[in-house]
Amino acid sequence: MELESPLTGRTTLITGASSGIGRETARALARDGSDVAISARRRKELERIASGMERRYDVETLAIRTDVRKEKQVRRMVEKTMEQFGSLDIVVNNAGLSRGGGVENMTTEEYKTMMETNTDGMFYTTRESLPHLKESGGHLIYIGSIAGQYPRPFNPVYAATKWWTRGFALSVESKVGDENVAVTVINPSEVRTEFGDGEKARDKYEKGEVTEPEEVAEAVSFVARQENSTISELDIYRRDKLSDMVG
Ligand SMILES: NC(=O)c1ccc[n+]([C@@H]2O[C@H](COP(=O)([O-])OP(=O)(O)OC[C@H]3O[C@@H](n4cnc5c(N)ncnc54)[C@H](OP(=O)(O)O)[C@@H]3O)[C@@H](O)[C@H]2O)c1
Repeated sequence: MELESPLTGRTTLITGASSGIGRETARALARDGSDVAISARRRKELERIASGMERRYDVETLAIRTDVRKEKQVRRMVEKTMEQFGSLDIVVNNAGLSRGGGVENMTTEEYKTMMETNTDGMFYTTRESLPHLKESGGHLIYIGSIAGQYPRPFNPVYAATKWWTRGFALSVESKVGDENVAVTVINPSEVRTEFGDGEKARDKYEKGEVTEPEEVAEAVSFVARQENSTISELDIYRRDKLSDMVG
């Protein structure tokens, strides 16, 4: 029989939790009983989300302003989480963005912004949190993308950062699995969030047209509830995605 709050007693750290998938994941895991540390650059948003979770779910929260491109800030983020909670069971490597589009017109700044956020940030977060996850026998969860599984013509650099994420996650999994750390990469197609350079996904798509961030959050919750197994990869696509791509 499943417990009512399956993650009671667990502690979670989520990057990029000031909006979209990260914010809804924080809420879903708090609902499941986990204490939750949330990080991103927008401090006010984080504080608002954290106090909402405390009121609604009666869990402990921590809001930590962090730019994942800065390794010292990432180190501090993990240290503060450990100082407050004393352990770390679930880490959701979620912070990410897309800038520009085609290679020929991409500025170096757009290129570096994507590389530093989507790859460096995930590396720093993994490096700092792994020792604690080994202690707890915890979960390391990456938000990848369908863009990291199939060639994507409209932003090859963004796609490449997500191929990197999958390659990194699966390789880390092959190393730390025998140390009882579960590693998962979740690959969504379009999700109605603030994601996008210019027009945001939530303005581009009507409700029901593509995946909602709450649906990805439920996928993370499912993954984090596995006691013995690793959900190695989980694809969550809008229903017509593959027929649109290959049909
Ligand atoms: N939406 C989609 O269609 C889609 C599809 C597949 C995969 N994904 C992936 O899902 C993840 C979450 O995106 P989303 O859709 O939820 O978009 P979103 O609503 O724009 O959320 C992105 C989050 O990342 C944070 N962030 C960006 N740069 C950061 C930095 N340097 N340091 C710390 N935090 C940073 C943002 O917060 P601040 O601005 O406050 O820092 C925000 O909380 C990303 O990895 C994205 O690549 C999205």
